[in-house]
Amino acid sequence: MKNAKPWILATDIDNTLTGDAQALRRLTCRLATEQARGTLFLILSTGRRLEQVLTGFLEEGIPEPNAIISQVGTELYLPPFSLESAPLPEWNTLLQERYSRNRAVSFLSDIEGLEMQPDKYNTPLKVSCYLDKTTYPEATASIIRDRILEAKQEDVYQVIWSSGRDLDIIPAAAGKGKAIRYLIQLLGLDPLSVVVAGDSGNDRSMFEEFKQGIVVANAQPELKKLHNEDPIPGIYFARQPFAAGVEEGLQNFGLLS
Ligand code: GLC
Ligand code: MG
Repeated sequence: MKNAKPWILATDIDNTLTGDAQALRRLTCRLATEQARGTLFLILSTGRRLEQVLTGFLEEGIPEPNAIISQVGTELYLPPFSLESAPLPEWNTLLQERYSRNRAVSFLSDIEGLEMQPDKYNTPLKVSCYLDKTTYPEATASIIRDRILEAKQEDVYQVIWSSGRDLDIIPAAAGKGKAIRYLIQLLGLDPLSVVVAGDSGNDRSMFEEFKQGIVVANAQPELKKLHNEDPIPGIYFARQPFAAGVEEGLQNFGLLS
């Protein structure tokens, strides 16, 4: 990068960038210009697997980033990106220290209607299931959180609840927010120059970790709660959905004209 101090956009992909192909094309183009000038360091921070990000460049028009955080902040990738890329080993080792996949799975026992997500979404550092077929999905998510608290394991495991359906148990040290923080430190970037953007529960940790953020208009209730329950100053609630909302937010922060 030519500029010593780029601003940093850390954005979710699904329903934050994607959802309106035309708006995404426009935003991707504007971000690419900033990256080429060296004024922007772009991080994609997603629940997707790496290959779902890579295919998205061509198939969905997702912008090519300077770093990828995948699997809900349990894997980090630096360029060059390819299907053979291995996640950053230091981050893996750090997360593996105390996390046991078997123990994480044990917190899900005997819950009627719970369905495990396909194997490809379950990794040594991420246990993922669907709760939408349980009678009270949100209450069930709370029960799973309580089990972790009762076992005094909240320093090791955290529950991420998204979109009224997805529940992930990942290391307490992981998550999108903490992964961005780690990456920023590793690369010597300025944490005060970070703007985050998202739409659902797995984005929440980014808003808690950084001062400036954009919530798109189509956000899920669990993220809109940030507005009503315990407002975090510095969060911009866009009037527009999807990529148009991200662009609107960046204009609000004076990062795009
Ligand atoms: C993505 C992941 C899924 C996860 C969800 C919410 O859809 O593929 O495993 O549960 O994000 O974090
Ligand atoms: Mg999303």
